[in-house]
Amino acid sequence: MEMRFRSFLRKCHTRVMDSERQIQRLIILMVVLGAVFYIYCFYYARLRWEVNDWNERPAKKIDDLYGTDPELKAVHERMVSEAGQLSSEITIITAYYNLGKLNKGKKFGLGGYTPERYKSWMSVFGRIDNPLIVFTDSQEIVDIFTQSRSHFSRERTIIVPLNRTNLWAFSLAPKIKEIFSQTGYPSYDPNTVNENYSCVMHAKFELVNKVIREKMFHTKYISWLDIGLYRGVVDEKHIFPIRLPPDFDQDKIAYSGQHKFDSSLSPYQIIVEDRTWVGGAMFLGRPEVMFVYTQDYMNAVKKLLSENMMSTDQQVIYIMFQPNFPIQPRVEIQTYTTHSTDDWFYLGYAIKETWDVHLRKAVSILKFLHTIL
Ligand SMILES: *[C@@H]1O[C@H](CO)[C@@H](O)[C@H](O)[C@H]1NC(C)=O
Ligand SMILES: *[C@@H]1O[C@H](CO)[C@@H](O)[C@H](O)[C@H]1NC(C)=O
Repeated sequence: MEMRFRSFLRKCHTRVMDSERQIQRLIILMVVLGAVFYIYCFYYARLRWEVNDWNERPAKKIDDLYGTDPELKAVHERMVSEAGQLSSEITIITAYYNLGKLNKGKKFGLGGYTPERYKSWMSVFGRIDNPLIVFTDSQEIVDIFTQSRSHFSRERTIIVPLNRTNLWAFSLAPKIKEIFSQTGYPSYDPNTVNENYSCVMHAKFELVNKVIREKMFHTKYISWLDIGLYRGVVDEKHIFPIRLPPDFDQDKIAYSGQHKFDSSLSPYQIIVEDRTWVGGAMFLGRPEVMFVYTQDYMNAVKKLLSENMMSTDQQVIYIMFQPNFPIQPRVEIQTYTTHSTDDWFYLGYAIKETWDVHLRKAVSILKFLHTIL
């Protein structure tokens, strides 16, 4: 009897000890999780407190170029003479050329960017209330954009069928392919592997240049937008305009800032290490400034090709802003960033956010915390 009672007591005791141990473990777990969360918050808060000293660089003036560049002069004269008629909106330019499945955005070796994914991202363009110019060589894409833009007035959408074989950018494919197949050349797929991917990145600048030169726009500002930029909001339903970002410098080109600018890198180092400074998916500016910028970009591409180097637009831009690169850009870039090193699309979302804020009735506590982080 006594024996049984003792063993009963012992059992109770061990049970108490077990639950105590469990509580202790729980406390330790919560302390650890709390600490991890605190470090995470502190890290990102610290990044956001960093000063963006890049933007302190003074804008470069392009007025002196009007005398030497008749095409630029024509653009400028048009902007001056039509100043009264041109709307203060931003003309959005985009394009879609099917390159098949790309080895991009994969998780655990699965996924990749398929034409189907690009098509799902396109739906957002049906909600962007801006003048839009789309270039493509696919009738299916023409139909998709015609359908999704049908609720806007007709003149707000221009769809231009344009075969890739007629583009300067795609004419570079054999040369780029040759460069990528040099022995020992880095192989970041698709950046330094798929020549067509490199070509379509250069096409952005060629097409923006074409739009300006051929007077295809009737606004005071112009912006390039990748099909995938607003992928984060494909599930939303409301229409929104793309307007100028806050504190926009009229004499610069706006970009999302991805990493801090390092002025000590060689062109090859930028390619070998696949380095980035700005996110290439969106850029925005006044037509004259954009015209000069696209010229400089295309000249930088030619220069790099002549030295048997190539990657995507993000590397070309980083390279041409290096102080020692022979083709020096004649206009400056203004970066928009939170310094989180994940700001690929920040410019686009920051612009959209300023519009969405007034739509929101109540700001949730989560959003509030997000803004102070
Ligand atoms: C583009 O042009 C090439 C060569 O002229 C032709 O083979 C191809 O079918 C064209 N592509 C489209 C989509 O029209
Ligand atoms: C690039 O495009 C050309 C022409 O369409 C094609 O023959 C080639 O296989 C493509 N290259 C890659 C890497 O997909």
